[in-house]
Amino acid sequence: MVKPFVPLLLLALLVGSAPLFAQELDQKILQSRTLFQGLSDDLQVQMWAAMSQGGPVAAIGTCNLNAGKVTEAASKQGVTLGRTSLKLRNPKNQPDPWERAMMEEFERQKASGVALEELEKGEFITQGGKKTFRYLKAIGTKPRCLACHGAVIAPEVEDKIKALYPNDLARGYKEGDLRGAFTLIQVLE
Ligand code: HEC
Repeated sequence: MVKPFVPLLLLALLVGSAPLFAQELDQKILQSRTLFQGLSDDLQVQMWAAMSQGGPVAAIGTCNLNAGKVTEAASKQGVTLGRTSLKLRNPKNQPDPWERAMMEEFERQKASGVALEELEKGEFITQGGKKTFRYLKAIGTKPRCLACHGAVIAPEVEDKIKALYPNDLARGYKEGDLRGAFTLIQVLE
């Protein structure tokens, strides 16, 4: 009788590696969530400083992740950080197919009652032949976002936004809407 040594070994590996894999994913999700929490807080602080000094016109340049130190440092280490949306202000924030599909999924989950704060997705995918960690975290619309993303925008704010973003679609939002998402891409091999 052949001893089932190899199948048992394979089974042990399979069972043993499953939690490891899950842990690696959970860890990356947690790290990404924490990273974006920090970036989001910094962004809000800058935006509020500018808003309280000069109102929304003065704050227009502060709703921006791209110029940040963390974003730059991440990019040097092969990690891309960004923001995206299904209705864009800056066309450079265009979602790729994975991001678009996930934001559509966020909209479905939100419609079925899931809280905005819970909407996130992290997974390993193969992209361009390389194992890649992808993470997306929903960004909700708060009352303070409406000055620049709401249905009614003051004429002086409107003029400046129009001049900078002639194809702006990121308006007409209400409090609690899904404004967009933070996105992280890390190519692993
Ligand atoms: C003072 C005006 C202003 C306020 C207030 C504001 N934004 Fe923005 N927002 C902008 C501008 C301008 C851009 C385009 C930035 C760029 O060029 O990437 C933008 C872009 C974004 C994007 C990137 C996707 C896109 O459409 O290009 C997200 C997400 C976003 N804003 C969310 C928010 C949220 C959430 C709030 C409230 C917490 C908020 N914004 C408040 C002006 C504002």
